[in-house]
Amino acid sequence: MTEVFKGTKPAARIAGTGHSVPDKILSNADLEKIVDTSDEWITTRTGIKERRMVSRGEKTSDYCIRAARQALNDAQVDPIELDLIILATISGDLRFPATALIVQNAIGAKKATAWDVSATCSGFLFGLYQAEMAIACGRAKKALIIGSEFLTPMNDWTDRTTCVLFGDGAGAVVLNDTSDERGILSITNGTNGDQCDLLYCIGAGTAGSFNSGEPSDGEKYLRMNGNEVFKHAVRILYRTAIETVKLAGLEVADIDWLVPHQANIRIIQAVAERLNIPMEKVFLNIHKYGNTSSASVPIALNEARRDGIIKDGQVILSVVFGGGFTWGGAVVRF
Ligand SMILES: CC(C)(COP(=O)(O)OP(=O)(O)OC[C@H]1O[C@@H](n2cnc3c(N)ncnc32)[C@H](O)[C@@H]1OP(=O)(O)O)[C@@H](O)C(=O)NCCC(=O)NCCS
Repeated sequence: MTEVFKGTKPAARIAGTGHSVPDKILSNADLEKIVDTSDEWITTRTGIKERRMVSRGEKTSDYCIRAARQALNDAQVDPIELDLIILATISGDLRFPATALIVQNAIGAKKATAWDVSATCSGFLFGLYQAEMAIACGRAKKALIIGSEFLTPMNDWTDRTTCVLFGDGAGAVVLNDTSDERGILSITNGTNGDQCDLLYCIGAGTAGSFNSGEPSDGEKYLRMNGNEVFKHAVRILYRTAIETVKLAGLEVADIDWLVPHQANIRIIQAVAERLNIPMEKVFLNIHKYGNTSSASVPIALNEARRDGIIKDGQVILSVVFGGGFTWGGAVVRF
């Protein structure tokens, strides 16, 4: 019997996934020794029980390379076949060149062109958007998209409202051109630069004291107005989910799994409830990793596929949101 697929015909499919996270675990009990907080507060307000933390001397590219090799192996794609490498990160190895080039060199993807994308926690879906576009218009056949972050070094360990939230890691996918019904059915993204002051890090940026000397200690850290970000996140994630599902020619009821950005369990629950998606259909790993920004969705996709949770033929909806603000969605048939 011929299987009848609803929705648009994809140009690109996710052929492989991978991820790599630090071995070092920072639990809520560990944080109780650093700031005035408790396991109970962090668990009920965020859903996070522990997060992974990089060690001194490690680099973002180390994790990208491991995640990339796993995804390429899973897709059975040789690095030399890659046309494109897009790395989403706000915590690359160097100010320049792009960390994507360091990955390109390490994996031997000599034919590819490579660049970094900076779109905060939405970065992975921005990268996927660019790669899908390149494949859809015939400029590439095989692409590697990575999301990778070192966020714990950006933590102000005296600020309990932020330092409990973030973790480190990398995830990757290989995108192949396709002529069958499995693949990316729709992909959306957007930005609104009028809220940059709600979530940001100056770092060595020129808006700080970089121009007049060394960045001050305070400028090194991530800053956030958590309450305001929370409200915008729920509204924008819901709206993005609806738009992305509609663009795929589907209904929310056709979605087998919601794979959201893992920022806060209460944001995820609020969005799922508005979408009328039961929590049993929401993939969660926030309890293990916290918010890993652009690495969050590719890590989740790899775990869900590896553990047989997302099955072949199933349709997933992924939605992301980040500082700026940035947002994006994707509907994918596996
Ligand atoms: C940050 C966040 C967890 C705070 O949760 P909240 O329920 O809004 O908590 P509030 O900020 O209202 O603070 C409530 C109280 O808890 C305290 N508190 C804050 N952080 C705490 C912590 N880690 N441990 C214990 N108490 C804490 C506050 O100081 C406040 O105390 P007060 O009432 O005495 O003033 C929540 O706003 C959030 O997740 N926002 C979105 C963040 C996010 O996902 N950002 C990334 C987007 S990609």
